[in-house]
Amino acid sequence: MNRYSRITGTGSFLPPRRLTNAELAAQLALQGVETSDEWIVERTGIRARHFVDDGVFSSDLALEACKSALQAAGLTPQDIDLIIVATSTPDMVFPSTACILQNKLGANGGAAFDVQAVCSGFVYALTVADAMIRTGSSKRALVVGAEVFSRILDFKDRTTCVLFGDGAGAVVLEASGTPGILASDLHADGKHVGILCVPGHVSNGHILGDPLLKMDGQAVFKLAVGVLEEAARATLAKANLTEAGIDWLIPHQANIRIMQSTARKLKLSMDKVVVTVDQHGNTSAASIPLALDTAVRQGKVKPGDTLMLEGVGGGFTWGAVLLNL
Ligand code: ACO
Repeated sequence: MNRYSRITGTGSFLPPRRLTNAELAAQLALQGVETSDEWIVERTGIRARHFVDDGVFSSDLALEACKSALQAAGLTPQDIDLIIVATSTPDMVFPSTACILQNKLGANGGAAFDVQAVCSGFVYALTVADAMIRTGSSKRALVVGAEVFSRILDFKDRTTCVLFGDGAGAVVLEASGTPGILASDLHADGKHVGILCVPGHVSNGHILGDPLLKMDGQAVFKLAVGVLEEAARATLAKANLTEAGIDWLIPHQANIRIMQSTARKLKLSMDKVVVTVDQHGNTSAASIPLALDTAVRQGKVKPGDTLMLEGVGGGFTWGAVLLNL
C-alpha cells in the first residue's frame, strides 16, 4: 500500500494583547515616529496585530497551538513521534524551540528540530514532515509555525514595525493510505540575503551587528509576486492539476496587495483566498497555519477541499504545498 501524509487537525494561538493600527500609531508617536491607520491599511491591508508580553516565547505560543491541533485530531502528545517548528525567533540560540516545546507538551522521545526559512518556514517544515512520513521515519507529526517578531522589530523604523505580529499555528500530520499532501515545490536564492534580514549575531558574549529586522520593502514585493506564481504553477504541474482544481489559496499573510496579485496571476477570485493579514499582520512562519486554522474554524475550509499553501520570505526562500484536507 502506498503511504501518504494527511492533516488530521489544526490549531492556532494569538497572544491576548491586540493593537489596532491607531493604537500602534499612538504609541509610536510618543517616540516621534509618524504613521497612520490610513497609510497602513492602504499599503498593506493590515488593521491589527497581536504582541506578546515580556517573558512569553515562541514555544509558549506553539504549545497552545499544538494543544488545540491535537484536540482537533483526537490525539494526545504521547501519540506524536516528530515535532518540527518553523521559526526565526527561537526561544534560545540552542537547543531548538522544537525540543523546548516537546518538553512543555510532555511528548518526549520522538525527533524534534527547528526549520529556519523565515516566512516560508511552514511550507518547508510541512514538506520535510511529509517526506519523513512517506519514507516511514514518522507516523504522526506536529508541524508548527511560531514567532515573536515583536522582539526583533525596530520601533523607530516605520517602514517595518507596522507590518509584523506574533502568533503560532500548528497541524497534526499523520500517515495515511490516501493522499493528503499531493505535491510541493521549494526554492531559495541566497544572493538576496540582504533585502530581508536580521544581521546581528552573538559573539564572545556580545551581540555584534544589528539584531533588528532590516527590509528593502520594494525589492521584497517584486520578488514575492513573481516567485509565488511560479511555485504555485510548479506544484500544480507535479500533481497534474490546474488552477481550476484549487478550492482555497492560503498564502503567506504579508501584504494584501501581494495576495491580490498572486490570485490575479492564477486567475483565482479573491473569494477563494484566505485572508487574515488584516487581523494578524505578518506573523512570518506562523502566518500560513494561523490562516489555515482560522479558516477551518470559521467553517470556510472543509474536509475534502484542495488547498494551495504558499510561502515567501527572507533568504530569499519560497515554496508551495498542494494538499487535500
Ligand atoms: N507610515 C507612513 N508612511 C510611511 C510608512 C508608515 N508606516 N512607511 C513608509 N512610509 C512612507 C515612506 O517614507 C515614503 O515616503 P516618501 O515618499 O516621502 O519617501 C512613502 O511612505 C512610500 O514608501 P514606500 O516604501 O515606497 O512604500 P510602498 O508602497 O513600497 O509600501 C511596503 C511599503 C508596505 C513595505 C511595501 O513595499 C511592501 O509591502 N513590501 C513587501 C514587503 C513585505 O511584505 N515584507 C514582509 C516580510 S517579507 C515577506 O513576508 C514576504
